[in-house]
Amino acid sequence: MHPDVPVIAIDGPSASGKGTVAARVAQQLAWHCLDSGSLYRIVAVAALRDRVALDDESTLSALAAELPAVFDSGRVLLGTEDVTDAIRSEEASSGASRVAVLSGVRAGLLARQRAYRQPPGLVAEGRDMGSVVFPDAPLKIFLTASVESRAERRYNQLKEKGLPATLAGLLQDLRDRDARDSGRSVAPLQKCADALLLDTTGMTIDESVERVVQWAAERFRR
Ligand code: DC
Repeated sequence: MHPDVPVIAIDGPSASGKGTVAARVAQQLAWHCLDSGSLYRIVAVAALRDRVALDDESTLSALAAELPAVFDSGRVLLGTEDVTDAIRSEEASSGASRVAVLSGVRAGLLARQRAYRQPPGLVAEGRDMGSVVFPDAPLKIFLTASVESRAERRYNQLKEKGLPATLAGLLQDLRDRDARDSGRSVAPLQKCADALLLDTTGMTIDESVERVVQWAAERFRR
């Protein structure tokens, strides 16, 4: 544990762009980056693979605590299996939001997330980075965008990859996921009182990255 290592905690809803922004900010600062959602996605993929029901809390909690996940040069491994693409499927996305409501799963992933706090600093993104995992983070950001603009961004991404999708379907899916993420009793998605709000509706990724880097420069100025 490195309590003195600075952390930027970025929380927000699905498809808000926080993953891209966090990765780019970490790259500019040469800090570590934690994509906490990928851990919930890996738990879901492991459960689907092993045919564990997505509400079987005791089995899923043990699985989360001992997850044989490895992040290696942009690839994600589950044991020896490359699950980089599998964790981004719609099935994994919806499965992740289901296993994420289970407190045992969240507890099982806690130490693994905190271990990312290494010098010189960490940019951590998810739903409860500022509220639960790094409550003492000196800079907390709630990064969001309107649900319509998030659906449109996701639609364009999928279209670019040649994957089938409809805007109406994506909009409904995001609304359902938002409701699950914010409505759950354990670590619900919420803006912490001490988090800065960054609404990226109508902003480019570059503009969002620049804003966060500027806030970091102000907060971590020696
Ligand atoms: O950020 P993402 O879409 O990859 O997250 C996948 C799911 O995991 C999402 O439904 C919310 C959940 N999640 C969470 O509950 N807490 C986190 N810190 C990160 C993600």
